[in-house]
Amino acid sequence: HVSSITVHADHKIAKINDNIYGGFTEHMGRCIYGGIYDPENPNKDLIDEHGHRKDVIEAMKELRVPVVRYPGGNFIATYHWQDGVGPREKRPKRPELAWIGVESNQFGTDEFMKWCELVGTEPYLCLNMGTGTLDEALAWLEYCNSSQDTYYANMRRKNGREEPYNVKYWALGNEIWGPWQVAQLSAPVYAANAYQYAKAMKLLDPTITLILCGETGHSSWDHEVLKTCVKHDIHGLGGDPTKRLIDMHSIHHYTADQEHLANATAPRSAERAIEMTMALIDLARIENKVPPSVPRQTICFDEWNVWDPLRAPGEQGAEEKYTLSDALAVGVWLNTFVRQAASVSMANIAQSVNVISPLMTTQSGVVKQTTWWPLLLFSKYMRGHTIALNIRSPEYTGRTNPAWIRGTIETPFLDCSATLGDDGFVSLAVVNIHEETDYEVDVKGVKDGEKMDVYTVSGDSVHVTNGEEQKVGIKESSWDGKGKYKFGKASLTLLRWK
Ligand code: AHR
Repeated sequence: HVSSITVHADHKIAKINDNIYGGFTEHMGRCIYGGIYDPENPNKDLIDEHGHRKDVIEAMKELRVPVVRYPGGNFIATYHWQDGVGPREKRPKRPELAWIGVESNQFGTDEFMKWCELVGTEPYLCLNMGTGTLDEALAWLEYCNSSQDTYYANMRRKNGREEPYNVKYWALGNEIWGPWQVAQLSAPVYAANAYQYAKAMKLLDPTITLILCGETGHSSWDHEVLKTCVKHDIHGLGGDPTKRLIDMHSIHHYTADQEHLANATAPRSAERAIEMTMALIDLARIENKVPPSVPRQTICFDEWNVWDPLRAPGEQGAEEKYTLSDALAVGVWLNTFVRQAASVSMANIAQSVNVISPLMTTQSGVVKQTTWWPLLLFSKYMRGHTIALNIRSPEYTGRTNPAWIRGTIETPFLDCSATLGDDGFVSLAVVNIHEETDYEVDVKGVKDGEKMDVYTVSGDSVHVTNGEEQKVGIKESSWDGKGKYKFGKASLTLLRWK
């Protein structure tokens, strides 16, 4: 089999939104307490004057995380934001029903905003549409974004913050369709609520970006809520024919399998889900006669990752131990977001610290799991525009997970994406998921004879994990572009040239 990859640097497909490298911090397990906030840590050098972990802040900066979702996740279903503001000693402790614990509320809105400022990232807040009310949602928006002389804006000032935070991204609830939700709703009930919330939120602050709560992107829930909420005739928005009520539709997917090839091909289901979501968005626009002057809604993939809840149960903090196989799967996930840049405006790895995360904290420092390295490479280099590729790759034809992928989308052994950065650099990412075969590939469109930078993530076997010893990391080398390039078995390779 002759494999080839042709890179068309002059054929830009779409601008990549930097927000595809977004994060997510939930009040769950050790993500907030012991992750980003750890005031009781005996190792005082690790902690800043606000109680934040300095090493975690540095790691987030290294990853250049542009946006972080907060405070859930399932946690949001019973969260009342006012419990988490004001003097700490007055904040109530509450039973927490998503992960069955006690929430101390020592970390809340103002602490999160401070952390975002220190990291240099944008906050993305999720509303409680479970036990919460519209009044409460409006109050939170006013607290965060209003510069007027009004009650909740003044509460923020009293709590020490004069200037509004101007939180741009707001989610209309989380996984409200799920039977595990404290207050699960049917699609018609949620859709009717979401429509009213959206209208009210945009009346208070028309500059915000609103994200609808979808499911997988290919369900009747997705169809129903999109059909109700993707409308242009918005009372209160002045009938502006270019304005959207809903800006993005959120979908969630987690992939995993015990067998390597099923695990590494599983994220291809996310690519199919993206295509199907966009079809449902278009269908809703057609059904509601939304004029083309209203920009097309896009996807906020605000939870994605490799996660096997049996291996790492949520109620126990979901501390996954990631293998090289998982790192390759993350490479395929990221290739998917780059390829689908026209449709995905934000993606948030779930989660950023400790909980199903590439980054783990110990009492004395951080451990970078195998999955950290593909994320770092992509976030550093795969920005700008996604560009056209032609790929001839051998095809994996075995079992994959979820099983429905088979027959809906190809699962090549070489999974690729490419970008043209604003700095003029071309970056080609190739994941060779085959655990036994190196592929010699004719890479066309590179500069023959000119030195290219090469970054490789691999390891001795697909089962290796990182701990104190970093068995998986990034190896740097170079290639002169002559002849064929050998993509080693079970590896992610990034070639970069100008
Ligand atoms: O990220 C972990 C959990 O997975 C989130 O809280 C929830 O939204 C999803 O089910």
